[in-house]
Amino acid sequence: MPKEGLTADTIELLLSEAKKARELAYAPYSGFYVGAALLTKSGKIYTGCNIESAAQTPTCCAERVAIFKAVSEGEKNFAAIAVIGGKKGEEISRICAPCGVCRQVMLEFCDENEFEIILSGRKEKAKIFKLKELLPLGFGADDLN
Ligand code: THU
Repeated sequence: MPKEGLTADTIELLLSEAKKARELAYAPYSGFYVGAALLTKSGKIYTGCNIESAAQTPTCCAERVAIFKAVSEGEKNFAAIAVIGGKKGEEISRICAPCGVCRQVMLEFCDENEFEIILSGRKEKAKIFKLKELLPLGFGADDLN
């Protein structure tokens, strides 16, 4: 059963949008294609794919692309994100968990107790985590007060 808050249809929709976004990944160096679909609390979906650079450090993960697209359009209230990743041309076999930098960016904009991260591998049922589970004891804006 999905955790409270997200219906099975919403989870399916976010995963299918993430899968579509993944096809647009620009990842010629790693060959690892990632797609993300971010759901705002108002019901909009922003997608992202990973974008790499020959110089490496400018590379941006799919999750951050989706979040930055949304923030740049005035959205700052997020409910959930679905992430799908794997080698180009291969069937998705494992879940692709967000990197530490992306988790930190999520903490910047999302409630750690509410925001849900949907991860899906091949046959397994999607796993859903609260941000706090993936970034325990995170350092956020409140820590500066
Ligand atoms: N990547 C993502 O886009 N999201 C993740 O959750 C993990 C990693 C990207 C970054 C890089 O382009 C490639 O996957 C290999 O690390």
